[in-house]
Amino acid sequence: MDTSAVKETAIQSAHDEDRLEELKAFDDTKAGVKGLLDTGITTLPKIFIRPLDELEEDSSYGHSQVQVPVIDLSGIANDDQHKTIVDEIRRASEEWGFFQLVNHGVPASVLDGMIDGTRKFHEQDAELKKEYYTRDRMRKVRYDSNIDLYQSKAANWRDTLTISLISSNEFEPDELPEVCRSEAIDYISYVTKLGENLFQLLSEALGLKQDSLNTMGCAMARTFVCHYYPACPQPELTMGVNRHTDPAFLTILLQDQIGGLQILHNNHWIDVPPMPGSLVVNIADLLQIVSNDKYKSVEHRVIANHNGPRISAACFFVGNPDPTYAYGPIKELISEESPALYKEFTVREYIRNFFARTIDKSRLRNMKL
Ligand code: OGA
Ligand code: NI
Repeated sequence: MDTSAVKETAIQSAHDEDRLEELKAFDDTKAGVKGLLDTGITTLPKIFIRPLDELEEDSSYGHSQVQVPVIDLSGIANDDQHKTIVDEIRRASEEWGFFQLVNHGVPASVLDGMIDGTRKFHEQDAELKKEYYTRDRMRKVRYDSNIDLYQSKAANWRDTLTISLISSNEFEPDELPEVCRSEAIDYISYVTKLGENLFQLLSEALGLKQDSLNTMGCAMARTFVCHYYPACPQPELTMGVNRHTDPAFLTILLQDQIGGLQILHNNHWIDVPPMPGSLVVNIADLLQIVSNDKYKSVEHRVIANHNGPRISAACFFVGNPDPTYAYGPIKELISEESPALYKEFTVREYIRNFFARTIDKSRLRNMKL
């Protein structure tokens, strides 16, 4: 190495150390981005500022007004309409990986309750909230900011309450934070049922028996992530959440009226506009794998906003967590013309892999045969 290269390396490592100190200081507050904003800051701390190359790369994508499909489940019990709905789900899952669902059977009061409960959790007394702050992923109920805080190049402007349910309703109600307990219990029960119904429709749309994906345990373990994106003083410098695909089979997402969710479709970032009463559904990585690429797990992100807070709650259906239960492309979907594209894996392996890296690096490629 010549002297200038040595100097540069030294500057870089000093910079990395400073950054690590700042990340630790932020983490140690156990108060998240909300706590930071409450101190009255008007400019972003360095740890949140995206690298220049990312900011520049962003402007190379087009924006487009095409719309994410909206699917109405109200006629699902009627034979003719059932078939039309299955066709719509197939098309949306193959071409978009995303759709908005209306008349899905979850009452508006339950949706509003979940948004409200999430807000109450994040806005409660900071001392009470701190008790839940942890990076220990074995904890069923935990609160943190940025799951990949120590790996990513720039932290995201977002805090999260996570509730992990490994099998059916195995939690004791008092494990849930009191401020949002009844709201979360109602929401969890409706969304779990809706997930099972969606896996039936998604099975049919693949030409499989209605119970196929449920028999594989796709709806078994679920992780609820209840996000709080505080108002951001300099939204153009950071992100609500970086582009990523979801580490699950399927995601059902509830968002409030603020907006900011975008999906990458034909190399354009498309807004997924808030639609009161609707739920956003997206195909996640594991369903792309078991469907042998028939369904697409599509990249998405949330941009930061002057307006806020923005609140959302995502339910990831993560499948059968048994460490001996192997998933791979579904046999009926494999043929000579359409050979298996992925190797077998266990959910545990996949999740371990997910947490080993930053969230913006898709792991699908590693799973290819
Ligand atoms: C996620 C996610 C989007 C949102 O939790 O994986 O993409 O609107 N959330 O919060
Ligand atoms: Ni996501």
